[in-house]
Amino acid sequence: METHAPKLKLWTPKYIKIHGSVLIWRYPINTQDSRFDPSWRDDVIEQEAIDIPLVFPEDTPPTGEIWVESRPRLKERLFNDDVELEKPRRVTSIVKRSYMLNYYKIADNQGNFIPLDDPIYNFIFQPKTWMNDSMSERYMMFAAAKKARGKVLVGGLGLAIYPQFVFYLQRPIQSITILEKNATVINLVRDTWINSLSDEQRQQVNIIEGSIEDYLQETDESFDTIYMDTWEDADPRFVPHLNYLVQLALPKCTGQIQCWGYAMAVQSFVDYAVSYVKQAFPLEDYYLDPGLERFSQWLQKAQKDGTPSEESIKTVAREIALTTVKSQEAYDRHRCFTPFAVSYSDIQRNMVMSRKKPVTAEN
Ligand SMILES: C[S@@+](CC[C@H](N)C(=O)[O-])C[C@H]1O[C@@H](n2cnc3c(N)ncnc32)[C@H](O)[C@@H]1O
Repeated sequence: METHAPKLKLWTPKYIKIHGSVLIWRYPINTQDSRFDPSWRDDVIEQEAIDIPLVFPEDTPPTGEIWVESRPRLKERLFNDDVELEKPRRVTSIVKRSYMLNYYKIADNQGNFIPLDDPIYNFIFQPKTWMNDSMSERYMMFAAAKKARGKVLVGGLGLAIYPQFVFYLQRPIQSITILEKNATVINLVRDTWINSLSDEQRQQVNIIEGSIEDYLQETDESFDTIYMDTWEDADPRFVPHLNYLVQLALPKCTGQIQCWGYAMAVQSFVDYAVSYVKQAFPLEDYYLDPGLERFSQWLQKAQKDGTPSEESIKTVAREIALTTVKSQEAYDRHRCFTPFAVSYSDIQRNMVMSRKKPVTAEN
């Protein structure tokens, strides 16, 4: 029998005293709801997840907004480590054009702008692996799939890794409803996967084109399991939005909600918070996502009484991460500062884009 997550007891009073006289107002997110356990970890290594055969679409040409690409890999980033494999493992990815195309245009030497569909853009702004079946992804979705039961609602079809694990594990499910916002993803992935299912399994699957946010607000149905994975990575800039999704999902959930990478993203928020203070990083010079903005404001007040202890920084940062609720529609994540990056050029771009005042000789 499935057990529910233990009730989290974070704070009972409405105000908490963290540093000297600083008081923090608890935001009205219910972190004690047993249907969502913010400490549940999906970064769990289980070899079986790598060995399970999965079906993926064939490669497509690298044109348009997104395409499928599979490559053998001998090295992989596994959570926080680099691992070398004894034999190559084929990894399938959906790749998308760089988001920098939303902010920059390339001109020729006469100053004429080059059309955005020109392949030159993919050389200047490296395409981004949007989703794939890397070892980390497999482990994380395997951990979630092991919890699926009853009526399942999924945010994000992606490469259909999660539902493939659910069926492979023969989880006691009744149906699986998948919301996918991107029609091209559905066209690329659906048929290959659906054709691999038995008739009975096929009957259980319902893929709907649309956003999980709209669906959660409009549907009258409720679900035993809600699994959400509509964001790109465990960057803490997503956390306010994940809390927003959880708030939308709770009224429609009779069982449990899992969010891909939630605990990892919260942990990064806390670890970064400690290092901002240690390095006296000038957060106020940067545009910040709603969670980091709250932390920055707390820090400015707390520092008037001296430097807060590492323990209080961790406690406050975690509380802020768990209780800041904001749809990502309400903030431009790409313009907000983050140390989370996959390359040095990513870090450079983010530092430039998130700085309030451009760097000059004076500052
Ligand atoms: C990381 S992938 C999901 C991977 C998936 N869990 C799997 O099993 O392979 C994210 C997917 O969510 C979709 N998506 C993004 N925002 C969405 C939204 N608001 N509602 C529904 N789908 C969304 C993306 O188009 C993408 O296909």
